[in-house]
Amino acid sequence: MNRILVKKTGWASIGRIVARMEDRFKEGDLQVRRCRVPGMLRRNRTINRNDVMIRFGCSDNGILVHPNALTYQQSAAIELAKNKLQARIKMRELGVPVPNLIEPNIDERGRLIPGWASLIPDVQAVARPMHHQAGNHFIVLKGLNDICSFIDATARDIRNWYISEVFDKNIEYRVHCAHGKILMCQNKGYDGATGDLRANQAVTQGDWVTVGFTDYRCWWAKPALKAVAALGLDYGAVDVMVKQRRGEDRSVAICEVNTAPSVEGEYWETRYAKYFQWLFSSPTRREHWNFDQFTAGTSLAWKDGQFV
Ligand SMILES: Nc1ncnc2c1ncn2[C@@H]1O[C@H](COP(=O)(O)OP(=O)(O)O)[C@@H](O)[C@H]1O
Ligand SMILES: [Mg+2]
Repeated sequence: MNRILVKKTGWASIGRIVARMEDRFKEGDLQVRRCRVPGMLRRNRTINRNDVMIRFGCSDNGILVHPNALTYQQSAAIELAKNKLQARIKMRELGVPVPNLIEPNIDERGRLIPGWASLIPDVQAVARPMHHQAGNHFIVLKGLNDICSFIDATARDIRNWYISEVFDKNIEYRVHCAHGKILMCQNKGYDGATGDLRANQAVTQGDWVTVGFTDYRCWWAKPALKAVAALGLDYGAVDVMVKQRRGEDRSVAICEVNTAPSVEGEYWETRYAKYFQWLFSSPTRREHWNFDQFTAGTSLAWKDGQFV
């Protein structure tokens, strides 16, 4: 049996995670394969019967995989997660809270259908291309006039963009979900005072703070687990926006699920190492936890003793 980690980007994170694995995994038959262009792995090696493969953000389906091989993180699910518009539509369909989508109705020449704007609320919105990362290509639209001008100017190419209403958050988490439980959670340190909607530590390069599992709350943590399940993923790092202010109704919205998250720091690397070892050490498919059964936030966390 070979154990294979396939990745496209995220070399540094995977290197750090593998370094935290127990020696019996590192010295055994663990292989880390990089797949930069489609079909690259087909030429290199195939995935054989009884092999276990974990994809880390790499959806290349040109890999030759034996039907009896165990694979975690299917190609189609990674592709869906990477298309941020389709992912949000899928999540919405399956009852995961996402920011309200503003869906342009255009004719074949790319012009807005008359009357469309009268149905749209005059709200602040964000326009982004379907594929994006690291806060890039982030256009803030201040109200309905801006939204209509943006759609007019983008014309037919608007099909490659999505527009969503700004969610009034004051906290942001990254919730790393794996097989239906939370591997770890980070507070991204959102700072609304800067006026930048993306003003979290991903942009400001500060440290993300670990949220201990006694601080997990079902009302924001379950939507993260649900997001990963909705996209058909085995694991994913979910960007969660939370609104929780004294005297106001609380609410939650999911931004996206990352399939090749950056992981740095002993605790976080070790958590992924334990999870991957748990997958690699079973000759049969590991089942997901049914998180619906849990009613306490702490029960949603992976405990060290459970990776057996
Ligand atoms: N509709 C929205 N309302 C408020 N903030 C948003 C909205 N969409 C995205 N953001 C902010 O922008 C950041 C980046 O968005 P995200 O969807 O995670 O894409 P990426 O990380 O790929 O750039 C989020 O962490 C969040 O802070
Ligand atoms: Mg993000």
